[in-house]
Amino acid sequence: MAITEIRPDIRYVGVNDRTTTRFEGLWPLPQGVSYNSYLAVGEQVALIDTVEERFGGRLLENIRHEIGDRPVDYLVINHMEPDHSSSIALLRRHYPEMRLVGNAKTLQMVEGYYGIACPAHTVADGGQLDLGGLTLQFHLIPMVHWPETMATWCPERQTLFSGDAFGTFGALDGGITDTQVETERYWDEMRRYYAAIVGKYGAPVQKALAKLGSLPIHTICPTHGPVWQRETARVVDLYDRMSRYEAEPGVVIAYGSMYGNTERLAERIARTLAEEQVGPIRVYNLSYAEPSEVLRDIFRYDTLLVGSPTYNGALFPPVKQLLDLLSARGIPRRRFARFGSFTWAGTAARLLGEFAQQMKWECTGEAVEMKQGATDADIDRCDALARTLAAEIKAARR
Ligand code: FEO
Repeated sequence: MAITEIRPDIRYVGVNDRTTTRFEGLWPLPQGVSYNSYLAVGEQVALIDTVEERFGGRLLENIRHEIGDRPVDYLVINHMEPDHSSSIALLRRHYPEMRLVGNAKTLQMVEGYYGIACPAHTVADGGQLDLGGLTLQFHLIPMVHWPETMATWCPERQTLFSGDAFGTFGALDGGITDTQVETERYWDEMRRYYAAIVGKYGAPVQKALAKLGSLPIHTICPTHGPVWQRETARVVDLYDRMSRYEAEPGVVIAYGSMYGNTERLAERIARTLAEEQVGPIRVYNLSYAEPSEVLRDIFRYDTLLVGSPTYNGALFPPVKQLLDLLSARGIPRRRFARFGSFTWAGTAARLLGEFAQQMKWECTGEAVEMKQGATDADIDRCDALARTLAAEIKAARR
């Protein structure tokens, strides 16, 4: 059996993208990304989601490889973000009789994005489509990650086509399912994907998990990354914890520094925390760090220290950028502490405190805010902040 047949009558026809450097024009793709598309082959054939339009030719080739000259009768559109929908026009040219299947919001977006207004099979939550031998049932899961998003369930094969949910960055190196690829490299990329793309929508993800949780899932077919069969429980558990913003013990220190003075405070705090054995500790210089990696670790770990120089009477721009990303994602709880420096008028520490207030996070310890270069007293204040934080962390771990 070809490995593209991931379940009987369910075929993988997706593609790898190893050339796009930034997903959504924002997030780097050092290991590429896959756009997953699937065929459900009953007496009639349904294609579930398409791929980014530059790869439409490969999608067609993959479809023809699986079903030859048979027509595609339906195109199920689970999600309209263009990485999955921008080959719709190409598909319609090759399969002019193909009917689009989507909910009312989806079909409005098909017209809005692509000017396509055609007779379609409009589905509501719980609706289904009989392909003859295979059934597709549709479950609306709005805001995972757009308002029109739905998941498609095939009960005969206990297979869930989950859209972006359970997806990950990282192209597929030959294999397709988690029994065919080396999965270790995907877990960090799954966290980064979640934090960057879906991280704002924790509550909708929780609703979707509750809605889909009773299905007897054998196979999860997301729109990005491996098809999950052996590790479905681990994947669902990870998404559940991330969407509850649940963190594990660990410290992220994220700072900006123009001339190394704020950096010196960051290094000292990190060293003292390490002496207190409250790791893991991740330290990021925000002028150089990749924001999605910093976000990934802030989603993962329960303690965050942010340091900033005062710059034009405000926060240093890369620090402000990180805070904006965090604010947009509404992370409800983190242990938080702050530090910074200034030359003639200190503002950064106050603004960091205001950020914590806005997030409804409590600040731990006294902010260390230093004028110009670090004195012994400033270093002592770093040690004191780190020890206060370490005491809290240890108490929480008991
Ligand atoms: Fe992979 Fe929200 O699109």
